[in-house]
Amino acid sequence: MADNPRTLADVQRTVLAVHKMSAIKCTLSFYDTWYELYEQDVKLLDYRAPLLASMSLADVMPEDRDQALILDVACGTGLVAMQLQKLGFCNFHGLDGSERMLQLAESKSVYQTLQKCIIGTESLPLSSDTYDAVLIVGALSEGQVPCTVVPELHRVTKPGGFVCMTTRINVSNQLYKSQLQAVIEKMEQKGLWVKVIVQEIEQWEKATSVHETEQDSTYIPGVIYIYQKSKGSEFKK
Ligand SMILES: C[S@@+](CC[C@H](N)C(=O)[O-])C[C@H]1O[C@@H](n2cnc3c(N)ncnc32)[C@H](O)[C@@H]1O
Repeated sequence: MADNPRTLADVQRTVLAVHKMSAIKCTLSFYDTWYELYEQDVKLLDYRAPLLASMSLADVMPEDRDQALILDVACGTGLVAMQLQKLGFCNFHGLDGSERMLQLAESKSVYQTLQKCIIGTESLPLSSDTYDAVLIVGALSEGQVPCTVVPELHRVTKPGGFVCMTTRINVSNQLYKSQLQAVIEKMEQKGLWVKVIVQEIEQWEKATSVHETEQDSTYIPGVIYIYQKSKGSEFKK
């Protein structure tokens, strides 16, 4: 990968712009222009969500990782599958709404299938009870994938399988984070899944501005949720 001529301040401005977008079409068009610099830029931001989520999932799936079928929702350029592959997982399907991000993911030759779709506004184009694990990393936030996707993540997961979700806990994502947690907990109360891991990470990624941190830190926190789908569960609205 060539050296990144961009500075942390350039990247902070770019990511802040994404976080401020409210229309999904704008967000996806933006990713279509950002795709080439995405991986270099998120490295400058010390974005470790793909690594942290993959390690957490691997912890709860110690056996037969090479047999497991994994769905990477909002897969972007493929950073999550690349991390999971290092941990012994081999079978990946990916979904994303950005054509260009998907093209980069395709070039990694890690995914068996990749599909373009808008996530969260309608059902995922996938059969129920299919995946051993479903991940969505770095995309559950304001202006990206709405919390309405959560029942769909559950639907496509096999009974006994795992759903791994991440979100940021910066100031401007607090409302979204609360809504997400409410959806997750309501499904838990209904017995659709059980909590396996809820882990807050203090240094999730570098903040895009001083206004995004509550303490005197250059990083914002984030959270990883892993839930296990109950055997025989069906989502009831
Ligand atoms: C920050 S990137 C994360 C990509 C990857 N999971 C990672 O951690 O590097 C967010 C990705 O979500 C996709 N995305 C955001 N909102 C979406 C939506 N509603 N439907 C489809 N894709 C979406 C973008 O195209 C982008 O590739």
